[in-house]
Amino acid sequence: MLLQFEQVSRTFPGQRAALEHVSFSLHANEFLTIVGPSGCGKSTLLKLASGLDQPTSGRITRDGALGVSGSVAFVFQDATLMPWASVFDNIWLPLRLAGVSRAQSAARIHSLLDVVGLADVATLRPAQLSGGMRMRVSIARAMVTRPRLLLMDEPFGSLDDFTRKRLGQDLLRWWRQEKMSVMLVTHQLSEAVLLGQRVIAMGARPGRIIDVIEVPEPATRDQEFMSSPFFLQTVNRLSDVIEAESRQGSV
Ligand SMILES: Nc1ncnc2c1ncn2[C@@H]1O[C@H](COP(=O)(O)OP(=O)(O)OP(=O)(O)O)[C@@H](O)[C@H]1O
Ligand SMILES: [Mg+2]
Repeated sequence: MLLQFEQVSRTFPGQRAALEHVSFSLHANEFLTIVGPSGCGKSTLLKLASGLDQPTSGRITRDGALGVSGSVAFVFQDATLMPWASVFDNIWLPLRLAGVSRAQSAARIHSLLDVVGLADVATLRPAQLSGGMRMRVSIARAMVTRPRLLLMDEPFGSLDDFTRKRLGQDLLRWWRQEKMSVMLVTHQLSEAVLLGQRVIAMGARPGRIIDVIEVPEPATRDQEFMSSPFFLQTVNRLSDVIEAESRQGSV
């Protein structure tokens, strides 16, 4: 078990609980996706998982020990790159902050540039790249320290459909190759089922888990899987629980 939430609640001052009694565990090398309406606490959940925020009550354990320090990386919707630095230097940043020299980092960065398909643009600056390429840089930067847990908050939200699909497929490959656990938040139910081994659906006011769906490993996670009865039924089920939940909430 890599990460465990037990009855975790998080309340911000003067507000209704952003998260209430959230319990789940994340296994080593698991790919977990999270869906739910805006404001249901998805980003709050990822922040707690990263250790950037602490629960108001409940317990978060990592590798059986309290706390979440260690090898965690975060990717946000915006690539948040340093505009003045090259692709290579942007990816180097986490290692540089950890005191690893450019020369010592070079082999790892070059191999990652190959992995994410950016070897030809290593010397370019972010403004010279497409949105999809900037996201590739952001993901490579997150992976450079070999995190055991990669947290992704709507990473493909600002990309066009075609680029988004392609990056999703690539992400599955990198996840297998780099041997890490991934928690990915998305607004697209189909993306959640396509990428996740398990999908957590959340409801709002207070934010909590309303459904958990296991996705038995398909032969391939591609267009064929997306047209299978299981895929379509699962997307419908998610859509139904989330809609039923938000109807209840508005009464
Ligand atoms: N730092 C904070 N201070 C006060 N309230 C906060 C803070 N962070 C989140 N909240 C509140 O907690 C609730 C959950 O927010 P959160 O950002 O986790 O939702 P979300 O599911 O990520 O939404 P979205 O889909 O829009 O990104 C919201 O009501 C939000 O206003
Ligand atoms: Mg959010």
